[in-house]
Amino acid sequence: MSAQSSLQLELEPISGVLGATVQGVDLASELSTETVAAIRQAFVEYHVLFFRDQSLTPEQQMKFGRLFGKLDVHPFVHGTDAHPEVLDVLTLPEDTVNFGGGWHCDVTFLEEPDLGSILYAIEVPPAGGDTLFANQHAAYEALSDKMKSMLEGLIGVHSAGVQYNDGGPSTLSKAMKTKDADLASTEVLHPVVRTHPESGRKGLYVNRAFTTRIKGLRRNESNALLQFLFDHAVEERFTCRFRWQAGSVAMWDNRSVQHYALHDYTGHRRHMRRITVCGDKPV
Ligand code: SIN
Repeated sequence: MSAQSSLQLELEPISGVLGATVQGVDLASELSTETVAAIRQAFVEYHVLFFRDQSLTPEQQMKFGRLFGKLDVHPFVHGTDAHPEVLDVLTLPEDTVNFGGGWHCDVTFLEEPDLGSILYAIEVPPAGGDTLFANQHAAYEALSDKMKSMLEGLIGVHSAGVQYNDGGPSTLSKAMKTKDADLASTEVLHPVVRTHPESGRKGLYVNRAFTTRIKGLRRNESNALLQFLFDHAVEERFTCRFRWQAGSVAMWDNRSVQHYALHDYTGHRRHMRRITVCGDKPV
């Protein structure tokens, strides 16, 4: 059923727990202050917004992204020659791995991970290539009070070493290239439960791709707790699934969402263009 925001944005939720399609907005056009405010409000409320039938040049996509903050440059994956802020997320027919092919939050290995990402579909496979999203507030809220109190004050250690450092298995499709991989093993610390800076809601803030351990716990304690949290955080009841078409845009809140780009289209190309908006230090 369609919901109407107080600012006339036409929203259609795609699951009961997160995600809404926004109708009637052309992201390439000059957006009014009211429209941007309504998108921002819906973004915080639904955690991931989808826009269909868009036609965006890299510059138009960047201009839209800048309405929400400064654009980030990925520290370990090359952007395009024209715009370092723009990642061509390209899977070739022969690829056995894909960028984003596992549950993760973007760049939690940074002191200030991104606020959000804006992904535009240029070419999609005839079937498959969907992206899954999981609501980390809902995952946190479903925990028992005892587990919530146990997680309070725990600190996660995050690193991109496993994903990008030389010598590890490549998690990048063939067309995407790493840079400065020797710096990827740097560790940063974030709370295991973070408070969303805009909504004030608490959410889980660990992910299988980049959270390596919990500070102060023995290795086996840390592994057991993380394994539980990784599995719990992405249970089906916290998720939505988006089927892409060329021209679709997804904009997700990296402070409250994990996502997973499925790779179920071997033999076909999938080409997306991603930009990210800088965020703040999780607390
Ligand atoms: C990503 O993790 O940013 C890529 C998501 C996708 O390609 O669907």
